[in-house]
Amino acid sequence: MIKESKVDAIVIPLFKNQNSFTGYAKEIDGFLNKKISTLIKNGDFKGDKNEILLYPDQSLTSKRLILLGLGLIKDCNLETIRNASASIALYIRDKNFKSYSTSIFGEELDSNLSDFIQAQIEGTKLSLYTFNKFKSDKKSLPKPINSLNIYVKDSKKHKEISSVIKETEYIAEGISLARDIANTPGNNMTPSIIANIAQNISSENSLKCEIFDEKKMKELGMGGLLSVSQGSNEPAKLIVIRHDGGNNDPIVIIGKGVTFDSGGISIKPSPKMDEMKFDKSGAATVIGAIKSISLLKLPINVIAIVPLTENLLSGSSYKPGDVITHYGGKTSEIMNTDAEGRLILADALSYSLTYKPKAIIDFATLTGACIVALGTHASGLFSNNKKLARDLFNSGQITGEPVWELPLWQPYYDQIKSDVADIKNTGSGGGGGAITAAAFLANFVNKQTPWAHLDIAGTAWIQSNPGDKKYFSKGSTGVGVRLIIRYLQQQCKLK
Ligand code: BES
Ligand code: ZN
Ligand code: ZN
Repeated sequence: MIKESKVDAIVIPLFKNQNSFTGYAKEIDGFLNKKISTLIKNGDFKGDKNEILLYPDQSLTSKRLILLGLGLIKDCNLETIRNASASIALYIRDKNFKSYSTSIFGEELDSNLSDFIQAQIEGTKLSLYTFNKFKSDKKSLPKPINSLNIYVKDSKKHKEISSVIKETEYIAEGISLARDIANTPGNNMTPSIIANIAQNISSENSLKCEIFDEKKMKELGMGGLLSVSQGSNEPAKLIVIRHDGGNNDPIVIIGKGVTFDSGGISIKPSPKMDEMKFDKSGAATVIGAIKSISLLKLPINVIAIVPLTENLLSGSSYKPGDVITHYGGKTSEIMNTDAEGRLILADALSYSLTYKPKAIIDFATLTGACIVALGTHASGLFSNNKKLARDLFNSGQITGEPVWELPLWQPYYDQIKSDVADIKNTGSGGGGGAITAAAFLANFVNKQTPWAHLDIAGTAWIQSNPGDKKYFSKGSTGVGVRLIIRYLQQQCKLK
């Protein structure tokens, strides 16, 4: 019985204007002589989204009841659930409560129960993430919550719910890893450090990991990655991590790993340049994702490829006007050394074709222009394959990581024609910067292989808190981990 639960608080989720109760709300309202009904009738609790009312009551084992608003039932979706579960988790932590009990939010709705429970656990786990490794005064940091009990009336559903909870915890682990990698500043998260992390998670999770050093890159002719890296003292790395879970041609996921992007010789302005530690967010996403994929034991082959470098300026930096040769032999003319992401991705994309992939999906904080186009509410999606684009769009709608497709038409390719090389690395001021960047990448995949590029420049981190997503705090969001996992789970089901 939830009312006897030995915790610091019992949390009852309620919709706005709900005039009759079901489940645990009904049970507790009855037990407390209609206290919940009275609080609502008197206008003390309305049930607005994320509204919280704490009500002390000595007759409950927990001594206190908390009412949590979910808003109008007709507006309730997975994002409502994530935000509500985040709001209450943060409230519980702020109050320094150690444990709480609740039910499945929106259980009474006739919806997909496992998606709802997943959203609830995501909201809880993601909101409680902290990044405090550089804070020396550990005493003033938020204290962890020890336990959350979720009560489910229908015992037939216990097994299904437990496995969804476990799976969501695995996904949350990958997201935390991604956020840690992205949040850590460039001096503590160099290409070599990320390569070590990749090796560690691989050996802990039975993944196969290969690290290419600069010598190997030279042998392979990865001129994009080597050129961007040549102005830095930190050696470039390229990581290949394999999850062998099935017998399909692999799905390759690629992440841009610029551990710090100063812009190089085409230097960026100083304000907000610190944020360019987040330019490794694509790398963080695919490393986090492959960890989750392995924990989830997805019955599918997946390969993560991560090109890693700094983009700095020095006497040995690459320069505007340089022509470089990528893996596979295509050449590009450098118009702007700040358009470095596409150069390192070019090598990774063309190299990924050697695995004969079933699909290639890359994640990159590629362009400021994508933020101009879509703001921070959606990642840019670019693809040579309608079905892949649709599958990723659908995944984004469910996971709360929306993506929006932009066109890859011929005139955008024309914008990156070069006079001296095969292509040039910017559209030379013709506008459509997110698209010309994607068109550049498209030159390094073939038409037969489904490929999608996700520009996460606007979604990979948030500058201020609180935003509209209560489950994120300032800093990295780990965007893309949930998106790619949902997409892969869907592919597994279709096999
Ligand atoms: N890493 C940046 C893109 C970026 C900027 C992401 C701001 C998130 C926030 C990328 O390497 C870059 O600098 N792109 C240039 C391209 C331009 C020179 C064609 C840009 O977007 O300005
Ligand atoms: Zn740049
Ligand atoms: Zn960059």
